[in-house]
Amino acid sequence: MNKNTDPALTHIGTAALITGASRGLGRALATALARGGARVALVSRDATALNDVVAGLRSEGLDAHAVVGDVAVKRSIHKIAGAAAALVGPIDLLINNASSLGPVPLRPLVDTECESLEETLATNVVGPFRLSKVIVGSMLLRRSGIVVNVSSDAAVAAYANWGAYSASKAAADHLTRIWGEELKGSGVNVVAVDPGEMRTQMHKDALPAADESTLQEPRDVAARILSLIQSIKAGAVANGARLEASAFANTEVRS
Ligand SMILES: NC(=O)c1ccc[n+]([C@@H]2O[C@H](COP(=O)([O-])OP(=O)(O)OC[C@H]3O[C@@H](n4cnc5c(N)ncnc54)[C@H](OP(=O)(O)O)[C@@H]3O)[C@@H](O)[C@H]2O)c1
Repeated sequence: MNKNTDPALTHIGTAALITGASRGLGRALATALARGGARVALVSRDATALNDVVAGLRSEGLDAHAVVGDVAVKRSIHKIAGAAAALVGPIDLLINNASSLGPVPLRPLVDTECESLEETLATNVVGPFRLSKVIVGSMLLRRSGIVVNVSSDAAVAAYANWGAYSASKAAADHLTRIWGEELKGSGVNVVAVDPGEMRTQMHKDALPAADESTLQEPRDVAARILSLIQSIKAGAVANGARLEASAFANTEVRS
């Protein structure tokens, strides 16, 4: 355990791969996990932003590593998985958090290019599926591991103008359910979590006029997702479940 880790979270202790970790929820999750004693590999496309985040975590004495990569690109997936395992050890927690909103400004389906839908599915469904296949394969050999797929209420509700994003999140949720069925009794758990609305770049891009004071801070949602992970470890969550982060306690200890 690192001297700067949060004693309230030291039981998390894990090797974690978090996609979309250069900002927003992914960054908050990587930070919370690292402070909980995890070795963390952070993924995003923008090397400068990612390296800045990792440098900040390391300055706290935390075990954090940057893996620059695009989850939407097939040839990147084995590089991401291989680099992460080389840097932090066999991954026992994968968080598929990176996401594309699809075409922005958001627009009706009739104005959505098919290529935009393909791009959204590549980032939000196919990429996480590829990464999950690689990592779950290795988790199965160890009969242990957790995959958390970050979902959205848009996966369930039919919001006008959110078509590409919503369809991708719904598909990812259903893949999660199927993973859950297929992995029962394997020691590997896959869940989806809806974080709720957060004050992030994605929210600003989607709804620039939103009242930011009504939005959750990513660090608070990250703390709730850590509680969810503890519940999975305790055997209290059904494999393949779709959960709301708000149902879990915010365990963050603020300094
Ligand atoms: N914010 C909300 O209110 C809200 C509500 C419901 C659900 N969610 C979900 O919560 C998750 C986090 O969202 P957020 O609001 O924190 O988003 P965000 O602030 O826009 O951050 C997205 C992160 O993903 C990375 N990323 C995007 N595309 C990528 C790709 N192809 N490969 C690798 N990394 C990629 C981005 O970095 P690069 O651009 O450098 O790659 C960035 O680090 C997403 O799954 C989102 O759908 C958010």
